[in-house]
Amino acid sequence: MIKTGIDAMSFYVPHRYIGLESLAERHGIDPEKFSKGIGQEKIALPGHDEDIVTMAAEAAKPLIDKYGADGIDTVLFATETGIDQSKSAGIYVHRLLGLPANCRNVELKQACYSATPAIQLACGYVARKPDRRVLVIASDVARYELDSSGEPTQGAAAVAMLISADPRLVEIDPVSGCFTEDIMDFWRPNYRRTPLVDGKYSALRYLNALIEAWRDYQANGGLDYSEIARFCYHLPFSRMGEKAHRHLAKAAKTQVNMDQALPGMIYNRQIGNSYAASMYLALISTLDNSDMDLGGKAMGLFSYGSGAVAEFFAGRVVPGYRDHLFTERHRALIDEREQVDYEGYLKLWQAVDPGDGSERILPDEARGRYRLASINEHQRHYIDSAA
Ligand code: HMG
Repeated sequence: MIKTGIDAMSFYVPHRYIGLESLAERHGIDPEKFSKGIGQEKIALPGHDEDIVTMAAEAAKPLIDKYGADGIDTVLFATETGIDQSKSAGIYVHRLLGLPANCRNVELKQACYSATPAIQLACGYVARKPDRRVLVIASDVARYELDSSGEPTQGAAAVAMLISADPRLVEIDPVSGCFTEDIMDFWRPNYRRTPLVDGKYSALRYLNALIEAWRDYQANGGLDYSEIARFCYHLPFSRMGEKAHRHLAKAAKTQVNMDQALPGMIYNRQIGNSYAASMYLALISTLDNSDMDLGGKAMGLFSYGSGAVAEFFAGRVVPGYRDHLFTERHRALIDEREQVDYEGYLKLWQAVDPGDGSERILPDEARGRYRLASINEHQRHYIDSAA
Protein backbone atom coordinates (compact mmCIF):
# COMPACT_ATOMS: atom_id res chain seq x y z
CA MET A 1 0.00 0.00 0.00
CA ILE A 2 1.19 3.52 -0.81
CA LYS A 3 2.21 5.48 2.29
CA THR A 4 0.56 8.88 2.54
CA GLY A 5 0.70 11.67 5.08
CA ILE A 6 2.22 15.00 6.03
CA ASP A 7 5.18 15.88 3.84
CA ALA A 8 5.80 19.27 5.46
CA MET A 9 4.08 21.54 7.94
CA SER A 10 4.49 25.04 9.29
CA PHE A 11 2.49 27.51 11.39
CA TYR A 12 1.98 31.23 11.65
CA VAL A 13 0.95 33.35 14.61
CA PRO A 14 0.29 37.12 14.65
CA HIS A 15 2.96 39.24 16.34
CA ARG A 16 0.82 40.70 19.11
CA TYR A 17 -0.37 39.09 22.31
CA ILE A 18 -1.89 39.94 25.65
CA GLY A 19 -0.42 38.28 28.74
CA LEU A 20 -3.07 36.53 30.79
CA GLU A 21 -1.80 38.28 33.92
CA SER A 22 -3.20 41.52 32.39
CA LEU A 23 -6.63 39.90 32.01
CA ALA A 24 -6.39 38.50 35.54
CA GLU A 25 -5.51 41.93 36.95
CA ARG A 26 -8.33 43.58 35.01
CA HIS A 27 -10.86 41.08 36.37
CA GLY A 28 -9.41 40.83 39.88
CA ILE A 29 -8.62 37.13 39.40
CA ASP A 30 -5.63 35.27 40.85
CA PRO A 31 -3.23 34.98 37.83
CA GLU A 32 -2.52 31.36 38.85
CA LYS A 33 -6.06 30.47 37.83
CA PHE A 34 -4.92 31.08 34.26
CA SER A 35 -1.27 29.96 34.44
CA LYS A 36 -2.02 26.80 36.46
CA GLY A 37 -5.81 26.28 36.46
CA ILE A 38 -6.20 26.45 32.68
CA GLY A 39 -2.49 26.26 31.83
CA GLN A 40 -2.22 29.31 29.57
CA GLU A 41 0.15 32.28 29.47
CA LYS A 42 -0.63 34.37 26.38
CA ILE A 43 -3.36 34.97 23.82
CA ALA A 44 -2.29 35.70 20.22
CA LEU A 45 -4.11 38.72 18.74
CA PRO A 46 -4.46 39.36 15.00
CA GLY A 47 -3.92 42.99 13.92
CA HIS A 48 -6.51 45.02 11.99
CA ASP A 49 -4.99 43.93 8.68
CA GLU A 50 -4.69 40.22 9.58
CA ASP A 51 -7.28 37.46 9.41
CA ILE A 52 -7.60 33.76 8.58
CA VAL A 53 -6.46 34.41 4.99
CA THR A 54 -3.30 36.35 5.79
CA MET A 55 -2.33 33.88 8.55
CA ALA A 56 -2.96 30.96 6.19
CA ALA A 57 -0.82 32.45 3.41
CA GLU A 58 1.98 33.17 5.90
CA ALA A 59 1.84 29.60 7.23
CA ALA A 60 1.92 28.06 3.74
CA LYS A 61 4.56 30.32 2.16
CA PRO A 62 7.63 28.58 3.67
CA LEU A 63 6.31 25.22 2.39
CA ILE A 64 5.90 26.55 -1.14
CA ASP A 65 9.31 28.27 -1.02
CA LYS A 66 11.05 25.06 0.11
CA TYR A 67 9.09 22.36 -1.73
CA GLY A 68 7.60 24.23 -4.72
CA ALA A 69 4.02 24.28 -5.99
CA ASP A 70 4.29 21.57 -8.68
CA GLY A 71 1.59 18.93 -8.41
CA ILE A 72 -0.55 20.87 -5.90
CA ASP A 73 -3.98 20.52 -7.45
CA THR A 74 -6.16 20.78 -4.34
CA VAL A 75 -6.45 23.32 -1.51
CA LEU A 76 -8.55 22.34 1.51
CA PHE A 77 -9.14 25.23 3.91
CA ALA A 78 -10.36 24.24 7.38
CA THR A 79 -11.88 26.98 9.52
CA GLU A 80 -14.83 27.87 11.71
CA THR A 81 -14.18 31.61 11.51
CA GLY A 82 -14.78 32.01 7.78
CA ILE A 83 -14.84 35.51 6.29
CA ASP A 84 -17.50 34.75 3.68
CA GLN A 85 -20.58 32.51 3.66
CA SER A 86 -19.99 31.61 0.01
CA LYS A 87 -16.42 32.03 -1.23
CA SER A 88 -13.70 29.78 0.15
CA ALA A 89 -10.90 31.60 1.96
CA GLY A 90 -8.52 29.25 0.15
CA ILE A 91 -9.11 31.05 -3.15
CA TYR A 92 -7.46 34.22 -1.82
CA VAL A 93 -4.57 32.13 -0.50
CA HIS A 94 -4.27 30.34 -3.84
CA ARG A 95 -3.71 33.71 -5.58
CA LEU A 96 -1.40 35.14 -2.92
CA LEU A 97 0.84 32.05 -3.17
CA GLY A 98 0.73 31.85 -6.98
CA LEU A 99 -0.51 28.25 -6.98
CA PRO A 100 -1.28 26.50 -10.29
CA ALA A 101 -4.62 27.62 -11.79
CA ASN A 102 -5.65 24.02 -12.47
CA CYS A 103 -6.57 23.42 -8.88
CA ARG A 104 -9.67 22.61 -6.80
CA ASN A 105 -10.33 24.69 -3.74
CA VAL A 106 -12.87 24.25 -0.95
CA GLU A 107 -13.52 25.31 2.66
CA LEU A 108 -14.47 22.76 5.35
CA LYS A 109 -16.24 23.42 8.65
CA GLN A 110 -16.95 21.39 11.77
CA ALA A 111 -15.77 23.50 14.69
CA CYS A 112 -12.18 22.62 15.64
CA TYR A 113 -12.31 19.24 13.89
CA SER A 114 -12.34 20.14 10.18
CA ALA A 115 -8.61 19.90 9.39
CA THR A 116 -8.73 16.20 10.30
CA PRO A 117 -11.28 15.15 7.65
CA ALA A 118 -9.35 17.42 5.27
CA ILE A 119 -6.24 15.33 5.92
CA GLN A 120 -8.10 12.03 5.64
CA LEU A 121 -9.63 13.10 2.31
CA ALA A 122 -6.25 14.35 1.09
CA CYS A 123 -4.50 11.08 2.03
CA GLY A 124 -7.14 9.09 0.14
CA TYR A 125 -6.72 11.35 -2.87
CA VAL A 126 -2.92 11.18 -3.07
CA ALA A 127 -3.09 7.39 -2.63
CA ARG A 128 -5.11 7.38 -5.88
CA LYS A 129 -2.89 10.03 -7.53
CA PRO A 130 0.60 9.76 -6.01
CA ASP A 131 2.03 12.44 -8.32
CA ARG A 132 -0.29 15.07 -6.81
CA ARG A 133 -0.09 17.02 -3.56
CA VAL A 134 -2.78 18.65 -1.45
CA LEU A 135 -2.32 21.85 0.53
CA VAL A 136 -4.36 21.58 3.75
CA ILE A 137 -4.62 24.77 5.79
CA ALA A 138 -6.27 25.21 9.18
CA SER A 139 -6.69 28.84 10.20
CA ASP A 140 -8.86 30.36 12.91
CA VAL A 141 -9.34 33.27 15.26
CA ALA A 142 -10.76 32.09 18.60
CA ARG A 143 -12.73 34.97 20.08
CA TYR A 144 -15.08 34.90 23.09
CA GLU A 145 -17.15 37.62 24.74
CA LEU A 146 -15.28 40.12 26.89
CA ASP A 147 -15.50 39.29 30.60
CA SER A 148 -16.82 35.78 29.86
CA SER A 149 -15.24 32.64 31.31
CA GLY A 150 -14.09 31.73 27.76
CA GLU A 151 -12.12 34.99 27.39
CA PRO A 152 -8.78 33.58 28.65
CA THR A 153 -9.06 30.74 26.10
CA GLN A 154 -8.93 32.99 23.00
CA GLY A 155 -6.09 32.88 20.45
CA ALA A 156 -5.29 32.79 16.74
CA ALA A 157 -3.00 30.82 14.41
CA ALA A 158 -2.79 28.96 11.12
CA VAL A 159 -1.13 25.65 10.28
CA ALA A 160 -0.34 24.67 6.69
CA MET A 161 0.43 21.10 5.62
CA LEU A 162 1.46 19.49 2.36
CA ILE A 163 -0.13 16.06 2.04
CA SER A 164 1.61 13.67 -0.32
CA ALA A 165 2.57 10.08 -1.09
CA ASP A 166 5.83 8.98 0.61
CA PRO A 167 5.76 11.92 3.05
CA ARG A 168 8.91 13.22 4.72
CA LEU A 169 7.39 14.02 8.15
CA VAL A 170 4.50 11.85 9.34
CA GLU A 171 2.82 8.87 7.66
CA ILE A 172 -0.88 8.85 8.54
CA ASP A 173 -2.16 5.39 9.46
CA PRO A 174 -5.45 4.56 7.69
CA VAL A 175 -6.98 3.19 10.93
CA SER A 176 -9.14 5.73 12.71
CA GLY A 177 -11.77 5.88 15.47
CA CYS A 178 -14.64 8.34 15.05
CA PHE A 179 -17.52 9.61 17.15
CA THR A 180 -20.39 12.02 16.44
CA GLU A 181 -23.10 13.24 18.81
CA ASP A 182 -25.57 16.09 18.38
CA ILE A 183 -24.94 18.38 21.38
CA MET A 184 -24.89 22.12 22.09
CA ASP A 185 -21.62 22.57 23.97
CA PHE A 186 -20.24 25.39 21.79
CA TRP A 187 -21.80 26.90 18.67
CA ARG A 188 -21.97 30.18 16.76
CA PRO A 189 -25.15 31.12 14.87
CA ASN A 190 -24.50 33.03 11.62
CA TYR A 191 -25.58 36.35 13.15
CA ARG A 192 -23.07 36.20 16.02
CA ARG A 193 -19.45 37.29 16.13
CA THR A 194 -18.68 35.23 19.23
CA PRO A 195 -19.74 31.68 20.11
CA LEU A 196 -22.20 30.56 22.72
CA VAL A 197 -20.58 28.05 25.01
CA ASP A 198 -21.40 25.90 27.98
CA GLY A 199 -17.78 25.68 29.12
CA LYS A 200 -17.88 22.98 31.78
CA TYR A 201 -20.28 20.81 29.77
CA SER A 202 -18.01 21.19 26.71
CA ALA A 203 -15.03 19.90 28.69
CA LEU A 204 -17.03 16.87 29.85
CA ARG A 205 -18.25 16.09 26.32
CA TYR A 206 -14.68 16.44 25.00
CA LEU A 207 -13.49 13.79 27.50
CA ASN A 208 -16.41 11.50 26.70
CA ALA A 209 -15.78 11.87 22.94
CA LEU A 210 -12.12 11.00 23.50
CA ILE A 211 -13.03 7.69 25.08
CA GLU A 212 -15.68 6.90 22.45
CA ALA A 213 -13.25 7.66 19.61
CA TRP A 214 -10.50 5.65 21.34
CA ARG A 215 -12.82 2.64 21.73
CA ASP A 216 -13.74 2.83 18.05
CA TYR A 217 -10.04 3.14 17.18
CA GLN A 218 -9.31 -0.01 19.19
CA ALA A 219 -12.26 -1.86 17.64
CA ASN A 220 -10.94 -0.98 14.18
CA GLY A 221 -7.53 -2.55 14.90
CA GLY A 222 -5.65 0.55 16.07
CA LEU A 223 -2.33 0.54 17.93
CA ASP A 224 -2.22 -0.50 21.56
CA TYR A 225 -1.70 2.41 23.99
CA SER A 226 1.77 1.06 24.83
CA GLU A 227 2.83 1.29 21.17
CA ILE A 228 2.23 5.06 21.05
CA ALA A 229 5.25 7.24 21.93
CA ARG A 230 3.63 10.70 21.98
CA PHE A 231 0.07 12.00 22.22
CA CYS A 232 -1.26 15.20 20.67
CA TYR A 233 -4.65 16.53 21.69
CA HIS A 234 -6.94 19.29 20.53
CA LEU A 235 -5.94 22.05 22.94
CA PRO A 236 -8.57 24.70 23.71
CA PHE A 237 -6.21 25.36 26.66
CA SER A 238 -3.30 23.22 27.80
CA ARG A 239 -4.93 21.91 31.01
CA MET A 240 -7.60 20.31 28.80
CA GLY A 241 -4.83 18.28 27.14
CA GLU A 242 -3.48 17.20 30.54
CA LYS A 243 -6.93 16.10 31.64
CA ALA A 244 -7.46 14.27 28.36
CA HIS A 245 -4.14 12.45 28.67
CA ARG A 246 -4.97 11.30 32.21
CA HIS A 247 -8.44 10.24 31.15
CA LEU A 248 -7.17 8.19 28.22
CA ALA A 249 -4.47 6.47 30.29
CA LYS A 250 -7.15 5.50 32.83
CA ALA A 251 -9.40 4.11 30.09
CA ALA A 252 -6.41 2.15 28.73
CA LYS A 253 -5.76 0.88 32.31
CA THR A 254 -2.21 2.19 32.36
CA GLN A 255 -0.09 4.66 34.35
CA VAL A 256 -0.15 8.16 32.90
CA ASN A 257 3.16 9.54 31.66
CA MET A 258 2.67 13.28 31.18
CA ASP A 259 6.02 13.57 29.33
CA GLN A 260 4.29 11.87 26.39
CA ALA A 261 1.90 14.82 25.99
CA LEU A 262 3.66 17.90 27.39
CA PRO A 263 5.90 18.73 24.38
CA GLY A 264 2.68 19.20 22.37
CA MET A 265 1.49 21.93 24.74
CA ILE A 266 4.53 24.24 24.61
CA TYR A 267 3.37 26.41 21.68
CA ASN A 268 -0.29 26.37 22.71
CA ARG A 269 0.47 27.92 26.12
CA GLN A 270 1.92 30.92 24.27
CA ILE A 271 -0.73 31.20 21.55
CA GLY A 272 -4.07 30.07 22.98
CA ASN A 273 -6.84 28.23 21.19
CA SER A 274 -6.55 28.20 17.41
CA TYR A 275 -9.61 25.98 16.83
CA ALA A 276 -9.05 23.93 13.63
CA ALA A 277 -5.29 24.52 13.80
CA SER A 278 -4.93 23.58 17.46
CA MET A 279 -4.24 19.83 17.31
CA TYR A 280 -1.86 20.33 14.37
CA LEU A 281 -0.06 23.06 16.30
CA ALA A 282 0.34 20.44 19.05
CA LEU A 283 1.82 18.05 16.49
CA ILE A 284 4.32 20.69 15.32
CA SER A 285 5.12 21.52 18.95
CA THR A 286 5.82 17.85 19.65
CA LEU A 287 8.08 17.43 16.61
CA ASP A 288 9.93 20.71 17.29
CA ASN A 289 10.33 20.27 21.06
CA SER A 290 10.89 16.57 21.78
CA ASP A 291 14.45 15.87 22.96
CA MET A 292 14.17 12.29 21.74
CA ASP A 293 14.48 11.54 18.02
CA LEU A 294 10.93 10.48 17.18
CA GLY A 295 11.88 8.86 13.84
CA GLY A 296 9.95 5.57 13.47
CA LYS A 297 7.77 6.31 16.53
CA ALA A 298 3.97 6.42 16.60
CA MET A 299 2.04 9.55 17.56
CA GLY A 300 -1.54 9.33 18.85
CA LEU A 301 -3.66 12.21 17.52
CA PHE A 302 -6.97 13.31 19.00
CA SER A 303 -9.08 15.83 17.14
CA TYR A 304 -12.29 17.29 18.67
CA GLY A 305 -14.77 19.80 17.33
CA SER A 306 -17.72 20.92 19.41
CA GLY A 307 -21.15 20.05 18.29
CA ALA A 308 -19.58 17.41 18.29
CA VAL A 309 -17.26 15.22 16.23
CA ALA A 310 -14.11 13.49 17.43
CA GLU A 311 -11.47 11.30 15.81
CA PHE A 312 -8.54 9.35 17.23
CA PHE A 313 -5.91 8.28 14.73
CA ALA A 314 -2.17 7.77 14.56
CA GLY A 315 0.81 8.84 12.53
CA ARG A 316 4.29 7.36 12.29
CA VAL A 317 7.14 9.84 12.26
CA VAL A 318 9.45 9.33 9.28
CA PRO A 319 13.18 8.85 10.11
CA GLY A 320 15.11 11.98 9.10
CA TYR A 321 12.05 14.19 9.76
CA ARG A 322 14.18 16.75 11.61
CA ASP A 323 15.68 17.91 8.29
CA HIS A 324 12.20 19.05 7.25
CA LEU A 325 11.08 21.02 10.30
CA PHE A 326 10.83 24.82 10.55
CA THR A 327 11.72 24.84 14.25
CA GLU A 328 13.84 28.02 14.28
CA ARG A 329 11.23 29.96 12.35
CA HIS A 330 8.46 28.71 14.66
CA ARG A 331 10.36 29.65 17.80
CA ALA A 332 11.16 33.10 16.43
CA LEU A 333 7.51 33.68 15.52
CA ILE A 334 6.57 33.05 19.14
CA ASP A 335 9.54 34.76 20.80
CA GLU A 336 9.62 37.91 18.67
CA ARG A 337 6.21 39.27 19.55
CA GLU A 338 4.96 42.48 21.04
CA GLN A 339 2.90 42.59 24.21
CA VAL A 340 -0.16 44.83 24.23
CA ASP A 341 -1.87 46.17 27.34
CA TYR A 342 -5.55 45.73 28.13
CA GLU A 343 -6.53 48.91 26.22
CA GLY A 344 -4.58 47.73 23.14
CA TYR A 345 -6.31 44.36 23.37
CA LEU A 346 -9.75 46.01 23.61
CA LYS A 347 -9.05 48.08 20.49
CA LEU A 348 -8.19 44.95 18.48
CA TRP A 349 -11.06 42.94 19.95
CA GLN A 350 -13.65 45.63 19.20
CA ALA A 351 -12.63 46.31 15.57
CA VAL A 352 -15.47 45.23 13.29
CA ASP A 353 -15.68 45.04 9.51
CA PRO A 354 -17.89 47.70 7.88
CA GLY A 355 -21.30 46.11 7.27
CA ASP A 356 -22.56 48.73 4.79
CA GLY A 357 -20.00 48.37 1.99
CA SER A 358 -18.21 51.61 2.90
CA GLU A 359 -14.48 51.79 2.37
CA ARG A 360 -12.06 50.96 5.15
CA ILE A 361 -8.30 51.30 4.61
CA LEU A 362 -6.57 49.16 7.19
CA PRO A 363 -3.43 50.29 9.04
CA ASP A 364 -0.23 48.58 7.94
CA GLU A 365 0.45 46.50 11.08
CA ALA A 366 1.07 42.89 10.05
CA ARG A 367 4.65 41.67 10.42
CA GLY A 368 4.21 39.25 7.56
CA ARG A 369 4.13 40.04 3.83
CA TYR A 370 0.42 39.30 3.36
CA ARG A 371 -2.07 41.94 4.48
CA LEU A 372 -5.73 42.73 4.29
CA ALA A 373 -5.15 46.21 2.83
CA SER A 374 -8.77 47.38 2.60
CA ILE A 375 -12.41 46.42 2.54
CA ASN A 376 -14.56 48.23 0.02
CA GLU A 377 -17.97 47.55 -1.53
CA HIS A 378 -18.13 44.38 0.59
CA GLN A 379 -14.91 43.07 -0.99
CA ARG A 380 -11.75 42.20 0.90
CA HIS A 381 -8.52 43.28 -0.80
CA TYR A 382 -5.48 41.23 0.13
CA ILE A 383 -2.01 42.22 -0.94
CA ASP A 384 1.45 40.73 -0.97
CA SER A 385 3.49 43.66 0.29
CA ALA A 386 6.72 42.02 -0.90
CA ALA A 387 5.51 41.77 -4.52
P1 HMG B 1 -14.05 28.90 34.56
O1 HMG B 1 -15.41 28.68 35.06
O2 HMG B 1 -13.58 30.30 34.55
O3 HMG B 1 -12.95 28.15 35.33
O4 HMG B 1 -14.00 28.28 33.07
P2 HMG B 1 -13.02 27.17 36.63
O5 HMG B 1 -13.62 27.88 37.76
O6 HMG B 1 -13.59 25.84 36.21
O7 HMG B 1 -11.46 27.03 36.84
C1 HMG B 1 -10.65 26.41 35.90
C2 HMG B 1 -9.59 25.62 36.65
O8 HMG B 1 -8.74 26.53 37.35
C3 HMG B 1 -10.18 24.70 37.73
O9 HMG B 1 -9.40 23.52 37.75
C4 HMG B 1 -9.95 25.47 39.01
O10 HMG B 1 -9.85 24.63 40.16
C5 HMG B 1 -8.62 26.12 38.71
P3 HMG B 1 -10.08 22.10 37.45
O11 HMG B 1 -11.23 21.96 38.39
O12 HMG B 1 -10.56 22.18 36.02
O13 HMG B 1 -8.97 21.12 37.65
N1 HMG B 1 -8.36 27.32 39.52
C6 HMG B 1 -7.14 27.64 39.99
N2 HMG B 1 -5.95 27.02 39.89
C7 HMG B 1 -4.87 27.62 40.48
N3 HMG B 1 -4.96 28.78 41.20
C8 HMG B 1 -6.14 29.42 41.33
C9 HMG B 1 -7.30 28.82 40.71
N4 HMG B 1 -8.59 29.20 40.63
C10 HMG B 1 -9.23 28.26 39.91
N5 HMG B 1 -6.21 30.56 42.03
C11 HMG B 1 -13.55 27.06 31.09
C12 HMG B 1 -13.04 27.45 32.51
C13 HMG B 1 -12.54 26.20 30.41
C14 HMG B 1 -14.86 26.30 31.25
C15 HMG B 1 -13.78 28.36 30.29
O14 HMG B 1 -12.55 29.01 30.09
C16 HMG B 1 -14.47 28.17 28.96
O15 HMG B 1 -15.69 28.13 28.88
N6 HMG B 1 -13.68 28.05 27.84
C17 HMG B 1 -14.25 27.88 26.48
C18 HMG B 1 -14.76 26.49 26.23
C19 HMG B 1 -13.67 25.46 26.17
O16 HMG B 1 -12.52 25.77 25.93
N7 HMG B 1 -14.06 24.17 26.29
C20 HMG B 1 -13.10 23.07 26.19
C21 HMG B 1 -13.71 21.78 25.63
S1 HMG B 1 -14.65 22.05 24.15
C22 HMG B 1 -13.45 22.27 22.90
O17 HMG B 1 -12.32 22.00 23.10
C23 HMG B 1 -13.93 22.83 21.61
C24 HMG B 1 -13.55 24.28 21.34
O18 HMG B 1 -12.17 24.37 21.01
C25 HMG B 1 -14.42 24.86 20.23
C26 HMG B 1 -14.51 24.11 18.90
O19 HMG B 1 -14.51 22.89 18.79
O20 HMG B 1 -14.68 24.83 17.91
C27 HMG B 1 -13.78 25.16 22.56
